[in-house]
Amino acid sequence: MGNCKNFSHVPFFFLLCLLGTFFFLPTEAAVKKYQFDIQVRNVSRLCHAKPIVTVNGMFPGPTVYVREGDRVLINVTNYAQYNMSIHWHGLKQHRNGWADGPAYITQCPIKTGNSYVYDFNVTGQRGTLWWHAHISWLRATVYGAIVVMPKQGTPFPFPQPDREVNILLGEWWNNDVEEVVKQGNKLGLPPNMSDAHTINGKPGPLFPCSEKHTFAMEVEQGKTYLLRIINAALNDEFFFAIAGHNMTVVEIDAVYAKPFTTQAILIAPGQTTNVLVQATQVPSRYFMAARPFMDAPLSIDNKTAAAILQYKGIPNTVLPILPQLPAPNDTAFALSYNGKIRSLNSPRFPANVPLKVDRHLFYTIGLGMNPCPTCLNGTRLTASLNNITFVMPQTGLLQAHYFSIKGVFTTDFPDRPPTSFNYTGAPLTANLGTALGTRLSRIAFNSTVELVLQDTNLLTVESHPFHLHGYNFFVVGTGVGNFDPSKDPAKFNLVDPPERNTVGVPTGGWTAIRFRADNPGVWFMHCHLELHTSWGLKTAFVVENGKGADQSILPPPRDLPPC
Ligand code: C2O
Repeated sequence: MGNCKNFSHVPFFFLLCLLGTFFFLPTEAAVKKYQFDIQVRNVSRLCHAKPIVTVNGMFPGPTVYVREGDRVLINVTNYAQYNMSIHWHGLKQHRNGWADGPAYITQCPIKTGNSYVYDFNVTGQRGTLWWHAHISWLRATVYGAIVVMPKQGTPFPFPQPDREVNILLGEWWNNDVEEVVKQGNKLGLPPNMSDAHTINGKPGPLFPCSEKHTFAMEVEQGKTYLLRIINAALNDEFFFAIAGHNMTVVEIDAVYAKPFTTQAILIAPGQTTNVLVQATQVPSRYFMAARPFMDAPLSIDNKTAAAILQYKGIPNTVLPILPQLPAPNDTAFALSYNGKIRSLNSPRFPANVPLKVDRHLFYTIGLGMNPCPTCLNGTRLTASLNNITFVMPQTGLLQAHYFSIKGVFTTDFPDRPPTSFNYTGAPLTANLGTALGTRLSRIAFNSTVELVLQDTNLLTVESHPFHLHGYNFFVVGTGVGNFDPSKDPAKFNLVDPPERNTVGVPTGGWTAIRFRADNPGVWFMHCHLELHTSWGLKTAFVVENGKGADQSILPPPRDLPPC
């Protein structure tokens, strides 16, 4: 096409050249197709073998590679005995909740023997995201990375790495996770903790029988590596560090960040972090390690997953050294680390923070206890937002909304808690009952929303990573203690706040987020600690259609699974 210009004085050739440009330019959006077979496979870790649910027999599952602007078709065929649904965590799914995936929210599950094609466009985002099962606790083994490459010809806004490596942090149970959960629910207590943490499905040599279950990446002296780190764990926030090597954070939740260098990162379930690592140390073997962060007065889980960063040519007999990780309860590190994250906010990648707010929401996060005659203590542990424990419906909420099916949900989720109290004072151990309901909040199309999530000391304070489907949001403020509506908003960062899809509400503190409700549909919002999600720490927004032709929910695909 280089010589097209030569013919441009001839109208006919000019037209041909235009057509040629249209068809052959490499920037043209492509269709990427994937086949996901949900299969049960025997896998062994920590000297225990068990059948696990996988995608295509892989653990972790396959990486989905797409380029910004692509259309993606992923056919999921379910050969397992469990109902299945898959969520593409962090993809915005504009007008297309049908492809979002949370079971009973935007679709009914894919039953054994059935298929469903997730059909979506990846527009206006690039970076590291991930996918996971979104039904029961099946995401314990059903998860993988999504890499959205920038448009062809668009470089990263940071030094180009020589190579990229995905690092997926996870958890492993020796027993069947679905059975563990059933047992917990029966007793009304938390299910048993996981037996190991994993890096790319492997616990590493600090766990028994794990010499061969250790992830290793080879590096060459002087080269730069981009690590795409994903926290796919169910219930643990992690510190992650590499012995002898600093990391430069350049992206979070598929949004570019102002680069900063750190010895360790903090990453909550649902979040992703891209870091650059330079292999400039003495050639040797170095451990990369992940260990939980937990600053609530709950039992601490100290188990460290380890993987190896190995310089080329160094024999496997060299013993690696462990990195220094912050102490498991290092609140100060957590607050200061999160405080360093800022959106890049460049002309090319601006932070379009809503400056005016149409709708102010204030949600309290609480644990609770409801009567349960068959449970161990006669009570069942539960969780709530504004004292409402979300009850899962039997029909997809998006279908109910789209087809105006009555009786599935109500839209009376309150904008604030039923009573105000000293949310983060002494632990509250009386009146722990919650109200049950499938209650949603209705949001006008294109309105700007500010949501303050306030942790409470009902039973105990704890840090909660909140995830919103269908949107990114800006984390405009956060603090310890009770949110003060008269003083705190003055301190909000409305210039370059972090933009993400999952944010940690600090233990005994609050977080304020803002977003523009320009994506019509029914969008799930929940704590990404699976324990708390299953206890009811979730709700959904019904974002109304706009008036414009391209401002309403797309029609459902024909193969949408029936209930
Ligand atoms: Cu990654 Cu609704 O979750």
